[in-house]
Amino acid sequence: MSQRSCLSVILAAGEGTRMKSALPKVLHQIAGLPMVAHVVKAAEAAGAGDQALVIGHGAEEMRKAAAKFAPKAESFVQEKRLGTAHAVLAARDAISKGYDDVLVMFGDTPLIDPGALIAARRKLAEGVAVVVIGFRTPNPTGYGRLIEKSGKLVAIREEKDCSEEEREITFCNGGLMAVAGAQALKLLDAVGNKNAKGEYYLTDIVEIASARGLDVVATEASFENALGINNRSELAQAEGIWQARRRQEAMLSGVTLIAPETVYFSHDTEIGADTIVEPNVWFGPGVKIATGAKIHAFSHIEGATIASNCDVGPYARLRPGADLRQKAKVGNFCEVKQAVVEEGAKVNHLTYIGDARVGAGANIGAGTITCNYDGYSKFFTDIGEGAFVGSNSSLVAPVTIGMGAYIASGSVITESVPDDALAFGRARQKTIPGKGKELRERFASAAAAKKK
Ligand code: UD1
Ligand code: CA
Repeated sequence: MSQRSCLSVILAAGEGTRMKSALPKVLHQIAGLPMVAHVVKAAEAAGAGDQALVIGHGAEEMRKAAAKFAPKAESFVQEKRLGTAHAVLAARDAISKGYDDVLVMFGDTPLIDPGALIAARRKLAEGVAVVVIGFRTPNPTGYGRLIEKSGKLVAIREEKDCSEEEREITFCNGGLMAVAGAQALKLLDAVGNKNAKGEYYLTDIVEIASARGLDVVATEASFENALGINNRSELAQAEGIWQARRRQEAMLSGVTLIAPETVYFSHDTEIGADTIVEPNVWFGPGVKIATGAKIHAFSHIEGATIASNCDVGPYARLRPGADLRQKAKVGNFCEVKQAVVEEGAKVNHLTYIGDARVGAGANIGAGTITCNYDGYSKFFTDIGEGAFVGSNSSLVAPVTIGMGAYIASGSVITESVPDDALAFGRARQKTIPGKGKELRERFASAAAAKKK
Protein backbone atom coordinates (compact mmCIF):
# COMPACT_ATOMS: atom_id res chain seq x y z
CA MET A 1 0.00 0.00 0.00
CA SER A 2 2.89 2.31 0.72
CA GLN A 3 3.38 2.82 -3.04
CA ARG A 4 -0.13 4.25 -3.32
CA SER A 5 -0.11 8.04 -3.41
CA CYS A 6 -2.40 9.76 -0.98
CA LEU A 7 -3.80 13.25 -0.49
CA SER A 8 -5.65 14.34 2.60
CA VAL A 9 -8.20 17.11 2.28
CA ILE A 10 -8.83 18.68 5.66
CA LEU A 11 -11.96 20.78 6.00
CA ALA A 12 -11.53 23.74 8.29
CA ALA A 13 -13.54 26.58 6.82
CA GLY A 14 -16.16 26.64 9.55
CA GLU A 15 -16.67 29.53 11.89
CA GLY A 16 -17.08 27.58 15.09
CA THR A 17 -19.53 30.06 16.59
CA ARG A 18 -20.18 27.87 19.62
CA MET A 19 -16.59 28.24 20.77
CA LYS A 20 -17.41 31.92 21.39
CA SER A 21 -13.88 32.83 20.48
CA ALA A 22 -11.88 35.33 18.46
CA LEU A 23 -9.61 32.44 17.48
CA PRO A 24 -10.70 30.16 14.61
CA LYS A 25 -12.12 26.98 16.16
CA VAL A 26 -9.59 24.56 14.73
CA LEU A 27 -6.69 26.56 16.18
CA HIS A 28 -7.82 25.87 19.73
CA GLN A 29 -5.32 23.51 21.24
CA ILE A 30 -5.22 19.99 22.54
CA ALA A 31 -2.04 19.10 24.40
CA GLY A 32 -0.54 22.40 23.28
CA LEU A 33 -1.09 21.80 19.56
CA PRO A 34 -3.93 23.22 17.42
CA MET A 35 -6.60 20.57 16.93
CA VAL A 36 -6.26 20.78 13.17
CA ALA A 37 -2.54 20.00 13.55
CA HIS A 38 -3.51 16.73 15.27
CA VAL A 39 -5.57 15.92 12.18
CA VAL A 40 -2.60 16.70 9.92
CA LYS A 41 -0.38 14.45 12.04
CA ALA A 42 -2.86 11.57 11.83
CA ALA A 43 -3.07 11.98 8.05
CA GLU A 44 0.71 11.93 7.79
CA ALA A 45 0.89 8.86 10.00
CA ALA A 46 -1.59 7.17 7.66
CA GLY A 47 0.70 7.87 4.73
CA ALA A 48 -0.86 10.99 3.22
CA GLY A 49 2.17 12.57 1.58
CA ASP A 50 0.28 15.69 0.54
CA GLN A 51 -2.19 17.78 2.47
CA ALA A 52 -4.83 20.25 1.31
CA LEU A 53 -6.30 22.56 3.93
CA VAL A 54 -9.66 24.10 3.15
CA ILE A 55 -9.95 27.34 5.04
CA GLY A 56 -12.43 30.20 5.10
CA HIS A 57 -13.16 31.82 8.40
CA GLY A 58 -10.01 33.50 9.76
CA ALA A 59 -8.08 32.53 6.63
CA GLU A 60 -5.09 34.76 7.33
CA GLU A 61 -4.66 33.48 10.86
CA MET A 62 -5.08 29.93 9.61
CA ARG A 63 -2.43 30.37 6.93
CA LYS A 64 0.01 31.75 9.47
CA ALA A 65 -0.59 28.92 11.89
CA ALA A 66 -0.48 26.27 9.15
CA ALA A 67 2.94 27.53 8.04
CA LYS A 68 4.16 26.24 11.40
CA PHE A 69 2.30 22.96 11.93
CA ALA A 70 1.92 21.90 8.30
CA PRO A 71 4.50 23.80 6.23
CA LYS A 72 4.00 21.53 3.24
CA ALA A 73 0.22 21.77 3.19
CA GLU A 74 -1.47 23.74 0.44
CA SER A 75 -4.29 26.04 1.57
CA PHE A 76 -7.49 26.56 -0.40
CA VAL A 77 -10.02 29.19 0.50
CA GLN A 78 -13.69 28.25 0.38
CA GLU A 79 -15.28 31.67 -0.10
CA LYS A 80 -18.86 30.66 0.68
CA ARG A 81 -19.76 27.80 2.99
CA LEU A 82 -22.11 25.80 0.82
CA GLY A 83 -21.55 22.41 2.39
CA THR A 84 -18.98 19.71 2.92
CA ALA A 85 -18.87 18.53 -0.71
CA HIS A 86 -18.47 22.12 -1.86
CA ALA A 87 -15.65 22.49 0.67
CA VAL A 88 -13.79 19.44 -0.66
CA LEU A 89 -14.15 20.84 -4.19
CA ALA A 90 -12.35 24.00 -3.09
CA ALA A 91 -9.27 21.74 -3.22
CA ARG A 92 -10.08 20.65 -6.78
CA ASP A 93 -6.64 21.66 -8.06
CA ALA A 94 -4.97 19.38 -5.55
CA ILE A 95 -7.32 16.43 -6.14
CA SER A 96 -6.98 16.71 -9.91
CA LYS A 97 -3.24 16.12 -9.70
CA GLY A 98 -4.30 12.48 -9.52
CA TYR A 99 -3.83 10.47 -6.35
CA ASP A 100 -4.60 6.82 -5.72
CA ASP A 101 -6.28 7.65 -2.41
CA VAL A 102 -8.00 10.77 -1.16
CA LEU A 103 -8.76 11.07 2.56
CA VAL A 104 -11.38 13.61 3.59
CA MET A 105 -11.06 14.70 7.19
CA PHE A 106 -12.54 17.40 9.42
CA GLY A 107 -10.24 19.87 11.13
CA ASP A 108 -12.40 19.77 14.25
CA THR A 109 -12.17 16.00 14.74
CA PRO A 110 -8.72 15.71 16.31
CA LEU A 111 -8.71 12.28 17.97
CA ILE A 112 -8.75 10.25 14.80
CA ASP A 113 -6.54 7.22 15.10
CA PRO A 114 -4.24 6.74 12.08
CA GLY A 115 -5.04 3.02 12.30
CA ALA A 116 -8.63 3.70 11.23
CA LEU A 117 -7.38 5.70 8.25
CA ILE A 118 -4.92 2.99 7.28
CA ALA A 119 -7.69 0.38 7.43
CA ALA A 120 -9.80 2.57 5.15
CA ARG A 121 -6.94 2.98 2.68
CA ARG A 122 -6.49 -0.79 2.64
CA LYS A 123 -10.09 -1.11 1.44
CA LEU A 124 -9.35 1.33 -1.38
CA ALA A 125 -6.38 -0.81 -2.35
CA GLU A 126 -8.79 -3.76 -2.62
CA GLY A 127 -10.82 -1.83 -5.18
CA VAL A 128 -13.49 -0.15 -3.04
CA ALA A 129 -14.44 3.32 -4.32
CA VAL A 130 -15.68 4.95 -1.12
CA VAL A 131 -14.97 3.99 2.49
CA VAL A 132 -16.86 5.71 5.28
CA ILE A 133 -15.52 5.50 8.80
CA GLY A 134 -18.53 5.04 11.03
CA PHE A 135 -19.15 4.62 14.72
CA ARG A 136 -21.97 3.42 16.92
CA THR A 137 -23.62 5.53 19.58
CA PRO A 138 -26.79 5.19 21.64
CA ASN A 139 -27.37 8.90 21.06
CA PRO A 140 -27.04 9.54 17.31
CA THR A 141 -28.74 12.94 17.30
CA GLY A 142 -27.07 15.33 14.85
CA TYR A 143 -25.09 12.72 12.95
CA GLY A 144 -25.63 11.39 9.47
CA ARG A 145 -27.03 7.82 9.61
CA LEU A 146 -25.38 5.01 7.66
CA ILE A 147 -27.94 3.12 5.62
CA GLU A 148 -26.87 -0.39 4.70
CA LYS A 149 -28.50 -2.98 2.51
CA SER A 150 -27.22 -6.55 2.53
CA GLY A 151 -23.82 -5.57 3.90
CA LYS A 152 -23.29 -2.68 1.48
CA LEU A 153 -23.47 0.97 2.38
CA VAL A 154 -26.07 2.53 0.09
CA ALA A 155 -26.57 6.01 1.53
CA ILE A 156 -25.83 8.43 4.33
CA ARG A 157 -28.85 10.36 5.46
CA GLU A 158 -28.39 13.60 7.35
CA GLU A 159 -30.51 13.89 10.50
CA LYS A 160 -32.78 16.56 9.01
CA ASP A 161 -33.49 14.44 5.94
CA CYS A 162 -34.13 11.17 7.84
CA SER A 163 -37.44 9.30 7.95
CA GLU A 164 -38.73 8.26 11.40
CA GLU A 165 -37.38 4.80 10.79
CA GLU A 166 -33.94 5.99 9.62
CA ARG A 167 -33.64 8.19 12.67
CA GLU A 168 -33.57 5.01 14.81
CA ILE A 169 -30.29 3.90 13.21
CA THR A 170 -27.36 4.13 15.62
CA PHE A 171 -24.56 3.49 13.11
CA CYS A 172 -23.34 7.00 12.24
CA ASN A 173 -21.04 8.88 9.91
CA GLY A 174 -17.91 9.96 11.74
CA GLY A 175 -17.19 12.43 8.98
CA LEU A 176 -14.08 10.66 7.73
CA MET A 177 -13.99 9.20 4.28
CA ALA A 178 -11.50 7.58 1.98
CA VAL A 179 -12.25 7.93 -1.70
CA ALA A 180 -10.53 6.37 -4.70
CA GLY A 181 -8.69 9.24 -6.35
CA ALA A 182 -9.86 8.25 -9.82
CA GLN A 183 -13.50 8.63 -8.71
CA ALA A 184 -13.28 11.57 -6.34
CA LEU A 185 -14.01 14.48 -8.68
CA LYS A 186 -16.56 12.54 -10.74
CA LEU A 187 -18.52 11.80 -7.59
CA LEU A 188 -18.18 15.23 -6.01
CA ASP A 189 -19.23 17.03 -9.19
CA ALA A 190 -22.44 15.01 -9.22
CA VAL A 191 -23.54 16.21 -5.78
CA GLY A 192 -26.56 18.53 -5.73
CA ASN A 193 -28.13 20.58 -2.96
CA LYS A 194 -31.75 19.45 -2.89
CA ASN A 195 -32.01 18.67 0.81
CA ALA A 196 -33.30 20.12 4.05
CA LYS A 197 -30.34 22.47 4.47
CA GLY A 198 -29.85 23.35 0.79
CA GLU A 199 -26.18 22.36 1.09
CA TYR A 200 -23.86 20.29 -1.04
CA TYR A 201 -23.38 17.24 1.16
CA LEU A 202 -20.20 15.23 0.92
CA THR A 203 -22.21 12.34 2.28
CA ASP A 204 -24.23 12.20 -0.96
CA ILE A 205 -21.31 10.66 -2.81
CA VAL A 206 -22.22 7.37 -1.14
CA GLU A 207 -25.59 7.16 -2.85
CA ILE A 208 -24.15 8.38 -6.14
CA ALA A 209 -21.33 5.83 -6.08
CA SER A 210 -23.57 2.92 -5.20
CA ALA A 211 -26.05 3.90 -7.93
CA ARG A 212 -23.13 3.77 -10.35
CA GLY A 213 -22.39 0.23 -9.24
CA LEU A 214 -19.20 1.16 -7.41
CA ASP A 215 -18.18 -0.59 -4.21
CA VAL A 216 -18.98 1.41 -1.08
CA VAL A 217 -18.35 0.17 2.46
CA ALA A 218 -18.49 1.41 6.02
CA THR A 219 -15.82 0.51 8.54
CA GLU A 220 -16.31 0.92 12.26
CA ALA A 221 -14.12 2.90 14.63
CA SER A 222 -14.60 3.91 18.26
CA PHE A 223 -16.62 7.00 19.10
CA GLU A 224 -13.48 8.97 20.04
CA ASN A 225 -12.31 8.86 16.44
CA ALA A 226 -15.36 10.84 15.43
CA LEU A 227 -15.53 13.22 18.35
CA GLY A 228 -16.11 16.61 16.76
CA ILE A 229 -15.35 19.70 18.79
CA ASN A 230 -18.00 22.40 18.72
CA ASN A 231 -17.66 24.06 22.11
CA ARG A 232 -15.18 24.33 24.95
CA SER A 233 -16.80 21.54 26.88
CA GLU A 234 -16.09 19.14 24.02
CA LEU A 235 -12.61 20.64 23.75
CA ALA A 236 -11.98 19.66 27.37
CA GLN A 237 -13.46 16.22 26.76
CA ALA A 238 -11.09 15.69 23.84
CA GLU A 239 -8.15 16.92 25.93
CA GLY A 240 -9.12 14.39 28.60
CA ILE A 241 -9.22 11.52 26.13
CA TRP A 242 -5.91 12.60 24.57
CA GLN A 243 -4.24 12.81 27.99
CA ALA A 244 -5.59 9.41 29.03
CA ARG A 245 -4.16 7.83 25.87
CA ARG A 246 -0.78 9.51 26.40
CA ARG A 247 -0.52 8.50 30.05
CA GLN A 248 -1.26 4.92 29.14
CA GLU A 249 1.42 5.04 26.45
CA ALA A 250 3.94 6.54 28.90
CA MET A 251 3.29 3.88 31.53
CA LEU A 252 3.50 1.04 29.02
CA SER A 253 6.83 2.43 27.84
CA GLY A 254 8.30 2.17 31.33
CA VAL A 255 7.48 5.47 33.01
CA THR A 256 5.99 5.35 36.50
CA LEU A 257 3.10 7.74 37.03
CA ILE A 258 1.98 7.52 40.63
CA ALA A 259 -1.29 9.35 40.00
CA PRO A 260 -1.59 9.30 36.21
CA GLU A 261 -4.79 11.33 36.09
CA THR A 262 -2.94 14.33 37.57
CA VAL A 263 -0.05 14.43 35.10
CA TYR A 264 -0.44 16.52 31.92
CA PHE A 265 1.62 15.91 28.82
CA SER A 266 2.17 18.01 25.71
CA HIS A 267 1.93 16.69 22.19
CA ASP A 268 5.73 16.49 22.01
CA THR A 269 6.76 15.39 25.52
CA GLU A 270 9.55 12.82 25.43
CA ILE A 271 10.13 10.84 28.57
CA GLY A 272 12.50 7.92 29.12
CA ALA A 273 11.96 4.63 30.89
CA ASP A 274 12.38 4.35 34.65
CA THR A 275 11.53 7.98 35.15
CA ILE A 276 9.17 8.45 38.07
CA VAL A 277 6.63 11.25 37.91
CA GLU A 278 4.90 12.15 41.14
CA PRO A 279 1.36 13.59 41.27
CA ASN A 280 0.37 16.98 39.84
CA VAL A 281 3.09 17.58 37.30
CA TRP A 282 2.57 19.68 34.16
CA PHE A 283 4.67 19.27 31.02
CA GLY A 284 4.41 22.18 28.59
CA PRO A 285 5.76 21.97 25.05
CA GLY A 286 9.34 21.02 24.25
CA VAL A 287 10.23 18.78 27.19
CA LYS A 288 12.72 15.95 26.79
CA ILE A 289 13.51 13.70 29.72
CA ALA A 290 16.04 10.86 29.61
CA THR A 291 15.87 7.72 31.71
CA GLY A 292 15.74 7.34 35.46
CA ALA A 293 14.81 10.90 36.35
CA LYS A 294 12.62 11.79 39.29
CA ILE A 295 10.06 14.51 38.81
CA HIS A 296 8.57 15.33 42.18
CA ALA A 297 5.08 16.62 42.84
CA PHE A 298 3.75 19.98 41.64
CA SER A 299 6.52 20.71 39.16
CA HIS A 300 5.81 22.88 36.10
CA ILE A 301 8.15 22.11 33.22
CA GLU A 302 8.35 23.48 29.68
CA GLY A 303 11.01 23.73 27.00
CA ALA A 304 13.43 21.87 29.25
CA THR A 305 15.90 19.08 28.68
CA ILE A 306 16.47 16.76 31.61
CA ALA A 307 19.28 14.21 31.46
CA SER A 308 19.25 10.82 33.11
CA ASN A 309 18.97 10.48 36.87
CA CYS A 310 18.17 14.13 37.49
CA ASP A 311 16.02 15.09 40.44
CA VAL A 312 13.47 17.85 39.94
CA GLY A 313 11.09 19.41 42.45
CA PRO A 314 8.83 19.24 44.34
CA TYR A 315 7.49 22.61 43.20
CA ALA A 316 10.22 23.24 40.64
CA ARG A 317 9.66 25.48 37.65
CA LEU A 318 11.76 24.73 34.60
CA ARG A 319 11.29 27.26 31.82
CA PRO A 320 12.42 27.19 28.18
CA GLY A 321 16.13 26.62 27.77
CA ALA A 322 16.60 24.87 31.10
CA ASP A 323 19.16 22.16 30.39
CA LEU A 324 19.84 19.78 33.25
CA ARG A 325 22.78 17.44 32.76
CA GLN A 326 23.15 14.05 34.40
CA LYS A 327 22.31 13.82 38.10
CA ALA A 328 21.67 17.54 38.41
CA LYS A 329 19.22 18.53 41.09
CA VAL A 330 16.76 21.41 41.06
CA GLY A 331 14.73 21.45 44.23
CA ASN A 332 11.71 23.15 45.74
CA PHE A 333 10.64 26.63 44.71
CA CYS A 334 13.50 26.99 42.24
CA GLU A 335 13.09 28.51 38.79
CA VAL A 336 15.56 27.78 36.00
CA LYS A 337 15.41 29.55 32.63
CA GLN A 338 17.83 29.46 29.68
CA ALA A 339 20.55 27.92 31.80
CA VAL A 340 22.67 24.80 31.88
CA VAL A 341 22.91 23.02 35.19
CA GLU A 342 25.86 20.73 34.64
CA GLU A 343 26.45 17.23 35.89
CA GLY A 344 25.76 16.74 39.57
CA ALA A 345 25.24 20.43 40.30
CA LYS A 346 22.68 21.30 42.97
CA VAL A 347 20.19 24.12 43.02
CA ASN A 348 18.12 23.01 45.91
CA HIS A 349 16.02 25.73 47.49
CA LEU A 350 14.20 28.96 46.62
CA THR A 351 16.50 30.06 43.83
CA TYR A 352 16.33 31.76 40.44
CA ILE A 353 18.87 30.74 37.83
CA GLY A 354 18.38 32.53 34.50
CA ASP A 355 20.77 33.06 31.56
CA ALA A 356 23.50 31.13 33.30
CA ARG A 357 25.75 28.13 33.48
CA VAL A 358 26.08 26.27 36.75
CA GLY A 359 29.28 24.21 36.52
CA ALA A 360 29.47 20.52 37.33
CA GLY A 361 29.23 19.76 41.02
CA ALA A 362 28.58 23.38 42.02
CA ASN A 363 26.31 24.02 44.99
CA ILE A 364 23.93 26.93 44.89
CA GLY A 365 22.67 27.95 48.32
CA ALA A 366 19.08 28.73 49.25
CA GLY A 367 17.74 32.01 47.97
CA THR A 368 20.44 32.66 45.38
CA ILE A 369 19.35 34.94 42.57
CA THR A 370 21.07 35.53 39.25
CA CYS A 371 20.20 39.18 38.58
CA ASN A 372 20.10 38.79 34.80
CA TYR A 373 17.96 41.72 33.70
CA ASP A 374 18.31 45.49 33.98
CA GLY A 375 14.93 46.26 32.51
CA TYR A 376 16.31 46.38 28.97
CA SER A 377 18.78 43.56 28.35
CA LYS A 378 19.64 40.13 29.67
CA PHE A 379 23.14 39.26 30.92
CA PHE A 380 24.96 36.01 31.56
CA THR A 381 26.21 34.50 34.80
CA ASP A 382 28.90 31.85 34.61
CA ILE A 383 29.43 29.72 37.69
CA GLY A 384 32.49 27.47 37.56
CA GLU A 385 32.78 23.80 38.39
CA GLY A 386 32.64 23.02 42.08
CA ALA A 387 31.87 26.59 43.14
CA PHE A 388 29.92 27.14 46.36
CA VAL A 389 27.46 30.03 46.45
CA GLY A 390 26.30 30.83 49.99
CA SER A 391 22.63 31.32 50.75
CA ASN A 392 20.84 34.53 49.89
CA SER A 393 23.41 35.75 47.40
CA SER A 394 22.69 38.02 44.46
CA LEU A 395 24.91 37.45 41.44
CA VAL A 396 24.63 40.61 39.36
CA ALA A 397 25.23 39.69 35.73
CA PRO A 398 27.35 39.84 33.70
CA VAL A 399 29.56 38.10 36.20
CA THR A 400 31.81 35.05 36.43
CA ILE A 401 32.34 32.92 39.52
CA GLY A 402 35.53 30.90 39.11
CA MET A 403 35.96 27.18 39.60
CA GLY A 404 35.98 26.14 43.24
CA ALA A 405 35.28 29.69 44.42
CA TYR A 406 33.37 30.41 47.63
CA ILE A 407 30.74 33.14 47.87
CA ALA A 408 29.86 34.19 51.40
CA SER A 409 26.17 34.08 52.34
CA GLY A 410 24.21 37.24 51.75
CA SER A 411 26.67 38.60 49.21
CA VAL A 412 25.82 40.91 46.37
CA ILE A 413 28.42 39.95 43.78
CA THR A 414 29.01 42.62 41.15
CA GLU A 415 32.58 41.78 40.16
CA SER A 416 33.87 38.51 38.81
CA VAL A 417 35.50 36.13 41.30
CA PRO A 418 38.63 34.19 40.28
CA ASP A 419 39.05 30.41 40.67
CA ASP A 420 39.40 29.20 44.26
CA ALA A 421 38.86 32.70 45.73
CA LEU A 422 36.58 33.60 48.65
CA ALA A 423 34.36 36.61 48.03
CA PHE A 424 32.34 38.64 50.54
CA GLY A 425 29.95 41.17 49.13
CA ARG A 426 28.35 42.46 52.30
CA ALA A 427 29.05 44.63 55.36
CA ARG A 428 31.05 43.07 58.19
CA GLN A 429 29.10 42.08 61.29
CA LYS A 430 29.46 44.33 64.40
CA THR A 431 28.54 42.95 67.87
CA ILE A 432 28.13 45.29 70.89
CA PRO A 433 27.98 43.49 74.27
CA GLY A 434 25.04 44.50 76.53
CA LYS A 435 23.52 46.79 73.92
CA GLY A 436 20.54 44.47 73.35
CA LYS A 437 19.44 44.64 76.98
CA GLU A 438 19.81 48.41 77.07
CA LEU A 439 17.63 48.79 73.98
CA ARG A 440 14.94 46.51 75.38
CA GLU A 441 14.67 48.55 78.57
CA ARG A 442 14.49 51.83 76.68
CA PHE A 443 11.70 50.57 74.42
CA ALA A 444 9.72 49.18 77.39
CA SER A 445 9.75 52.43 79.37
CA ALA A 446 8.80 54.47 76.29
CA ALA A 447 5.78 52.19 75.76
CA ALA A 448 4.76 52.44 79.44
CA ALA A 449 4.99 56.27 79.33
CA LYS A 450 2.61 56.29 76.34
CA LYS A 451 -0.02 54.21 78.20
CA LYS A 452 -0.26 56.63 81.15
C1 UD1 B 1 -21.09 16.19 9.14
C2 UD1 B 1 -21.64 15.09 8.22
C3 UD1 B 1 -22.43 14.10 9.08
C4 UD1 B 1 -21.53 13.52 10.15
C5 UD1 B 1 -20.93 14.64 10.98
C6 UD1 B 1 -19.87 14.07 11.90
C7 UD1 B 1 -22.07 16.09 6.04
C8 UD1 B 1 -23.08 16.64 5.12
N1 UD1 B 1 -22.49 15.69 7.22
O1 UD1 B 1 -22.19 16.89 9.64
O2 UD1 B 1 -22.92 13.04 8.26
O3 UD1 B 1 -22.28 12.63 10.97
O4 UD1 B 1 -20.27 15.61 10.15
O5 UD1 B 1 -19.37 15.06 12.75
O6 UD1 B 1 -20.91 16.00 5.67
N2 UD1 B 1 -17.10 22.66 6.50
C9 UD1 B 1 -16.47 23.49 5.61
N3 UD1 B 1 -17.19 24.13 4.66
C10 UD1 B 1 -18.54 23.96 4.54
C11 UD1 B 1 -19.19 23.11 5.46
C12 UD1 B 1 -18.44 22.46 6.42
O7 UD1 B 1 -15.25 23.66 5.67
O8 UD1 B 1 -19.13 24.57 3.66
C13 UD1 B 1 -16.29 21.95 7.52
C14 UD1 B 1 -16.61 22.43 8.91
O9 UD1 B 1 -15.75 23.48 9.30
C15 UD1 B 1 -16.35 21.18 9.73
C16 UD1 B 1 -16.69 20.04 8.77
O10 UD1 B 1 -16.63 20.59 7.49
O11 UD1 B 1 -14.99 21.04 10.08
C17 UD1 B 1 -18.05 19.43 9.05
O12 UD1 B 1 -19.07 20.37 8.84
P1 UD1 B 1 -20.31 20.48 9.80
O13 UD1 B 1 -21.16 21.58 9.32
O14 UD1 B 1 -19.89 20.49 11.21
O15 UD1 B 1 -21.05 19.08 9.48
P2 UD1 B 1 -22.10 18.33 10.38
O16 UD1 B 1 -23.42 18.97 10.21
O17 UD1 B 1 -21.58 18.15 11.73
CA1 CA C 1 -19.93 19.06 13.08
